Amino acid sequence: MCGIVGYVGPQTPGPRPLEVVMGGLARLEYRGYDSAGVALVTPQGLVSAKRAGKLGVLAADLEAAPLPPATAAIGHTRWATHGAPTDSNAHPHLSEDGTVAVIHNGIIENFIQLRAELAADGVAFSSDTDTETVAHLLARAYDGDLTTAMRTVAKRLQGTFTLLAVHADAPDTVVGTRHDSPLVVGLGEGENFLGSDVAAFIAHTREAVELGQDQVVTLTPDGVEVVDFDGNPVAPKRYTVDWDASAAEKGGFASFMDKEIHDQPHAVADTLLGRTDAAGHLVLDEIRVDETVLRQIDKIIVIACGTAAYAGQVAKYAIEHWCRIPVEVELAHEFRYRDPVVNAKTLVVAVSQSGETMDTLMAVRHAREQGATVLAIVNTHGSTIPRESDAVLYTHAGPEVAVASTKAFLAQITAAYLLGLYLAQLRGTKFPDEIAEILDDLREIPAKVQQVLDEAGPVREAAVEMKDVPSVLFLGRHVGYPVAMEGALKLKEIAYLHAEGFAAGELKHGPIALIEDGQPVFVIVPSPRGRDSLHSKVVSNIQEIRARGARPLVIAEEGDTDVLPFADRVFFVPKTASLLAPLVAVVPLQIFACALAAAKGLDVDQPRNLAKSVTVE
Ligand code: G6P
Repeated sequence: MCGIVGYVGPQTPGPRPLEVVMGGLARLEYRGYDSAGVALVTPQGLVSAKRAGKLGVLAADLEAAPLPPATAAIGHTRWATHGAPTDSNAHPHLSEDGTVAVIHNGIIENFIQLRAELAADGVAFSSDTDTETVAHLLARAYDGDLTTAMRTVAKRLQGTFTLLAVHADAPDTVVGTRHDSPLVVGLGEGENFLGSDVAAFIAHTREAVELGQDQVVTLTPDGVEVVDFDGNPVAPKRYTVDWDASAAEKGGFASFMDKEIHDQPHAVADTLLGRTDAAGHLVLDEIRVDETVLRQIDKIIVIACGTAAYAGQVAKYAIEHWCRIPVEVELAHEFRYRDPVVNAKTLVVAVSQSGETMDTLMAVRHAREQGATVLAIVNTHGSTIPRESDAVLYTHAGPEVAVASTKAFLAQITAAYLLGLYLAQLRGTKFPDEIAEILDDLREIPAKVQQVLDEAGPVREAAVEMKDVPSVLFLGRHVGYPVAMEGALKLKEIAYLHAEGFAAGELKHGPIALIEDGQPVFVIVPSPRGRDSLHSKVVSNIQEIRARGARPLVIAEEGDTDVLPFADRVFFVPKTASLLAPLVAVVPLQIFACALAAAKGLDVDQPRNLAKSVTVE
């Protein structure tokens, strides 16, 4: 939600600051794409350009009217909160005298009071944004030192913010600060970088520095200094990013989403890598919670939003079965406001691709205040949620750029399964050989996902054929139920299509009334080798909807001939243990949504109104 880039380099003015910032914005555009803008520090003072629309609109402007050489720059892509996505509301915002430029991610909640105060003092505003107040406040607080001005202003702000600022009189400085919004530093040689996440500067360096809550960073070509809001120095924490720029490229695919769907065998394999010792026991090194605490846990609550929450719902079935611990799954924004029963024996598992989702972060804080142990399952190193949790289990899906999450979903389920097996090992609810067998099954998943990808032609054909249907329904049961909801979410997100996922057993309690002639219904059929009579119950559901005119699109295990007489189409997936089946069953649904949205001519990677990382509540 809003992408932020900052750069400072050699003091001989040149084109590099603008090039770096535009390149970084291109990689961050998934965060917001309502408008884009840059500000450069040049010998002629600050120069800025900004335009409503996607980054390409600004890039075309800059080509037609190039900006002068510079020594430092900041850039922004916006996801509008205060003020419509217009040219004037685009960031950067400048002070009245044009000496300070500011970009912002977040919401300044007390901006109405601040704006009134500034207006009473004679300031004329040129936008409707909360951010512009910061530019005016900084210009007033500036007394030759931008860092001090930033500290002074940051203390006055309520809400959430990452702010970057440059000053016309400081050609070698970019100052940044963060409170509840993301910001990371990239370390170069004779140049340094700032970004909402490492994708902003990964083309230039993999050396990064984490910034903590309520810190101010001053970037010069040769230095990175971090202080808290009171000016006390802070020792920053360095880390090396474990993926490179090519991981964030499309690699020949038509969209990032398509590429990321095809990355999934790697995402699962990498998440499984290095998790066992020589004797085959699970060792989750990152989980540094006392084992006695984990043995005493009597309840697990998974908190997450969107796709991550569906990953949690899948994991619930497995963790309860393997560990015999009750698992609740709750949307993070509901959890916090519900007065949940949480205590020192509760393990809260926060699942998030970005590690920045504000609703999830707030729920993490609430859980810790109640005394719970919080473990984060997160994909993005250096992000806020793992830093504020007691422990972290990283997924190794690599950077996910498309707004609609795909490979992170598979990696989250995989990591949650590792956690479940680890708890089962620790608490003795499964024998070591049983755990080893499940781990072996998990290690076969990448090849099975690859098989689904290789055989996906008919799924794509069905999607193109159905591009004009008004609605698609999804039915699933047991672990297939969250898969059904995830399949529906994908279609809503990127194809703007009415789509609903239902528990197949609920069909007769209402949803069956929606069935009319020609209604496409995906049905995720459990394995005939799986739980009791679930398979036959879902096959009966197919018959029931078929009898009422629906077109059943069936996802079934290869060799399951029972479904053939009643299905409009069958997409077979490889035989997989019941609890692991979501890892293969969801893949055709992702491909279907991606292909259908592309057939409609929609922007698959940047769907309307959405942002990948939702850093406001
Ligand atoms: C947004 C995105 C979803 C994502 C959700 C949770 O709503 O559009 O694709 O699933 O946030 O994001 P997280 O980064 O916490 O996994």
